[in-house]
Amino acid sequence: RLLIIDFGSQVTQLIARRLRELSVYCEIHPFQNVTAEFLETFAPKAVILSGGPASVIDAGSPRPPEAVFDLGVPILGICYGQQVMMHMLGGTVERGHGTAEFGRAYVTPKSALPMLDGWFDDGAEQVWMSHGDHVSAIAPGFEVFGTSPNAPFAITADTARDFYAVQFHPEVHHTPKGARLYENFVRLAGFNGDWTMGAYREQAIEAIRAQVGDNQVICGLSGGVDSSVAAVLIHEAIGDQLTCVFVDHGLLRQGESEEVVTMFRDNYNMKLIHAEEQDLFLGALEGISDPEVKRKTIGKLFIDVFQKHATAIGDAKFLAQGTLYPDVIESVSFSGGPSVTIKSHHNVGGLPEKMGLSLVEPLRELFKDEVRALGRELGLPASFIGRHPFPGPGLAIRCPGKITRAKLDILRKADAVYIDQIRKHGLYDDIWQAFVAILPVRTVGVMGDGRTYDYACALRAVTSVDGMTADYYPFTHEFLGETATRIINEVEGINRVTYDITSKPPGTIEWE
Ligand code: XMP
Repeated sequence: RLLIIDFGSQVTQLIARRLRELSVYCEIHPFQNVTAEFLETFAPKAVILSGGPASVIDAGSPRPPEAVFDLGVPILGICYGQQVMMHMLGGTVERGHGTAEFGRAYVTPKSALPMLDGWFDDGAEQVWMSHGDHVSAIAPGFEVFGTSPNAPFAITADTARDFYAVQFHPEVHHTPKGARLYENFVRLAGFNGDWTMGAYREQAIEAIRAQVGDNQVICGLSGGVDSSVAAVLIHEAIGDQLTCVFVDHGLLRQGESEEVVTMFRDNYNMKLIHAEEQDLFLGALEGISDPEVKRKTIGKLFIDVFQKHATAIGDAKFLAQGTLYPDVIESVSFSGGPSVTIKSHHNVGGLPEKMGLSLVEPLRELFKDEVRALGRELGLPASFIGRHPFPGPGLAIRCPGKITRAKLDILRKADAVYIDQIRKHGLYDDIWQAFVAILPVRTVGVMGDGRTYDYACALRAVTSVDGMTADYYPFTHEFLGETATRIINEVEGINRVTYDITSKPPGTIEWE
C-alpha cells in the first residue's frame, strides 16, 4: 500500500482519487500522526508528500519524520511536499519575491526520465501551480528534468533513490496529463494495479469488526445510496449487532417506504425499526409555509424520533453514518496538535455528542461513484444504486406554501408518472435529479365539457456533477408534451404542467 502524508492541501483527496483510478490502494494520514514508529508499522511501498498551506521557512512548519527518507521506497513530493523534501535533504527554499505562481503554467522537458514517460509527447505540458515559496537550490543527488518560466525546478529527481519532486499539482484537472505521472510513479514503485472494490470490502469489514468489537451499532437509514451501502456493509461485518432506524416522516415518494423496508428487512434480514411518524411530522408542519421553518421543524423532529428509537435499543455505543470523502473537509489543523478538523454530513446532526456515541463511517475514504461500485459489489440492485439524490426534508420542500395531505398525495402521483416517463424513455441515468413540485396556485382549465380549477405543477430535471451547480435537462418538446398529457389525464387534482428551465445558480435545484 501507498502512504500519502497530508500537509493540509485542499486537493490531497484528489491524489487518493487518482491512485484509486489506477487500482492502487492508498491511505491518507495527517502529518501529525506519521511518526517513525507509524512508518515502521505501516510499511509503505511508496510515499507521497502532499501539498499544504504552510511555509517550510517558518519555524514549526510541518515535517515528515526523517525516517521517511531511509525507508528505501520511492517518494513523490508535491508542492509543499517538494519543498519540505528539498529543505530536509539539503536544498534551499526561499520566499516568493516575485516568483510566486498561481494557476496555469507550462513545463518544458530538460532530459528524459522514466517517471515522465508519455508526458512530454506534445512538447511543453500544461500544469497547475499554486505556490508562494520556491526552491532556489536543489538537494544533493537531485537533477532537473523539467522547468517552467517561474519554476526552474518544476520537476526534479534523485533517480538513485527514486525520489521525485514536482512544484505543481499533478492531481488536479488543470494538469491534464497529471494522471500519467501518478501512473509512472506507482509503476516504478512496483504496484501492479490489482486493488479492487472486493479488496476494499474485505478491509472495511475487518476494520469495522476491530472498531466495534461486540458493541451495538445504530444506523439512520434514509433509503439513499450512501446510508444504504454503509448499512449493508456494516451488517455484513457485524450482523445483528446493527439496528437500523428508518424514519418515515410522511414526506417520502410513492412506494418508497415499502421498498426500503422490504429490501432491508426481508431481503437483507436486517434489524430494522420502521418509525412510522407521519402524523407527528405532518401535524407539526400544519399551517407552516416558510421554507426555513419547515426545514427546522423537520430537522428537530427527526432528531427527537431517532433518539427515541435509538435509546430504546439500549446499549448502543456507535452511530453509523454514510459520510463520504467529499464530506470530510480538509483536514490538518496546524496549531491544535494532532486533531483533524472534520465537517461530517450529520444526517442526525448533534446526536453523537448528545448520546455519547462514537461514529462508524466506513465510506469515509470513498467518492460517490466508488460507493456505487461498493454497493454493486455488495449485491444491492442496480436500480437502487443509481437512484437520484433525495433531500432529507423530502416532499416538504417540493410543496411550496402550506403542506396538506391532499397536496402530498397529488404530488406523489404526479411525481410517479413523471419518473415513469423518464425511465421509459431511458433518460433516468442521464439526469442528476428529477422531481415534481406542486405549486401553491390553482388555475382554470377545461376537461371534457367541464371547467376545472386545480393545482399547477412544475417538472424539474437537472444535470449536475455534485449538486453545487446545475443545468436544466433539455427534454424534447415531444417528451414534455407527452408527460404533461399523462400527468393531467392520470392525476386528479392537476390541470396544468410547467417545466422549470432555471439553472443553478441563480436557482437552486429544490424549490425551497
Ligand atoms: P439545492 O436545492 O440547494 O440542492 O440546489 C442541492 C442538492 O442537495 C439536496 N438537498 C438536500 N439534501 N438535506 C439533504 O439531505 C437537505 O436539507 C437538502 N436540501 C437540498 C437537493 O436535493 C440537491 O440534490
